[in-house]
Amino acid sequence: MKYIAPSILSADFLNLQKDILILEKAEADIIHCDIMDGQFVPNITFGPSLVKRISDISPLPLDVHLMIKQPENFIDLFADAGAKYISIHAEGNNHLDRLINQIKKHNVKAGIVVNPATPVGYIKDLLNIVDFVLLMSVNPGFGGQSFINYTKNKIVELVEIRNSIDNKFLIEIDGGVCLDNVKELADLGVDIFVAGSSIFNSKDIVRTIADFKNIFKDKY
Ligand code: DX5
Ligand code: ZN
Repeated sequence: MKYIAPSILSADFLNLQKDILILEKAEADIIHCDIMDGQFVPNITFGPSLVKRISDISPLPLDVHLMIKQPENFIDLFADAGAKYISIHAEGNNHLDRLINQIKKHNVKAGIVVNPATPVGYIKDLLNIVDFVLLMSVNPGFGGQSFINYTKNKIVELVEIRNSIDNKFLIEIDGGVCLDNVKELADLGVDIFVAGSSIFNSKDIVRTIADFKNIFKDKY
């Protein structure tokens, strides 16, 4: 199965409800929520109260990508707000195993995120316990950046490891994903595709999501 996860970072924040409802109509699979604190990344977005309001109006699973310092202080709040997936970065966090278990305790799918410059080797042991790996294919902080090509090598590495262990974690990719590169990424083994600007900056959001889904249809 392949899943399309629009990132609301590029949605119209003044008409967020409208955009959220469009995602449901378009049969998006997951809603990706980018949480930034102005410390871990040079940008600020929103917190658990908005995530709760989104979960109140949408049946779509919420995927909360934490780009914040000391995520241990916020994991429980985002789980209570209705997140179905929560991911924490490998960088800047000292107790990754503890954080993954903190997420799992809530019966929320737990993910580890690696920035473009972080090698897969750094998270190798965690691959036995995570539900998914989020590969950053841009430097986190902003939407609308170009896909960094060398990050594709990490998809190949992760697929190889996944084939050799019992834990069949999913692979999610985030940053610069568009209709032109999604097929190649799907063929390499990515399961969840985050796309912000290529969806919300398109002329017709519903149509663009349908185009993504058509690429996946019948092929995987
Ligand atoms: C970047 C975020 C992404 C971002 C992707 O820090 O993690 O989720 O919204 O945006 P696009 O798809 O425009 O690269
Ligand atoms: Zn993200």
